[in-house]
Amino acid sequence: MNYSVNNCTLIDFSVTGTGAGFFVDPLRNGIESPFPVRRMYYLFDIPLNKARGGHAHKDLQQIVIAIKGSFALKLFDGRNEKIVILDNPMTGLHLVPGIWREVFDFTPGATCMVLASEIYDEKDYIRDYDEFLTYRGLFAKTYTNDF
Ligand code: TYD
Repeated sequence: MNYSVNNCTLIDFSVTGTGAGFFVDPLRNGIESPFPVRRMYYLFDIPLNKARGGHAHKDLQQIVIAIKGSFALKLFDGRNEKIVILDNPMTGLHLVPGIWREVFDFTPGATCMVLASEIYDEKDYIRDYDEFLTYRGLFAKTYTNDF
C-alpha cells in the first residue's frame, strides 16, 4: 500500500497518575499500539546538531516516543512532507511503511524510544534517497550539463 504522511498519526497514550508521578503502559493489551509490538529500542546521548534517520522502511511500522526531552521528525512520502515535534512521553507518533524520515533538533539529554512491528532486518531499509523515490514510483532526479 502507498501510505502517505497523513497516515502517520499521533497516539495519545492512557496516562495513569499515582499521586507520585505518572505511568504509561504502551503495550497494554495491544490497546495503545495499532500493531503487535515485536521490538523496542531507544536512542540516547545524541550529540547536539546530529540528525538520525535518513531512511525509509518497506514493511516496518513504528511508534516513536520522546521519553525525555524533545526532537523533530521530517516525514516525506514522495509527494507530501510533514514535520512533527515530539516533546512529551504521553504521545507517540505512528510511522507507517514507505515514509522517508529525518530525526533532528534533539534537546540535550533527549531520549527517543521506538516500538517496532518486526525484529531488526537491514533488508527492510531503504537508505538510498534515489532508490526511495523510485520505490515510491517517482523517478530519481538526474542532473546533467547537457542543454
Ligand atoms: P538506524 O535504524 O539507521 O538508526 P536511526 O534511524 O536511529 O538513525 O540504525 C543505526 C544502526 O544501528 C544501523 O547500523 C543498524 C543498527 N541497528 C541494529 O543493529 N538494531 C536495531 O534494532 C536498530 C534499530 C539499528
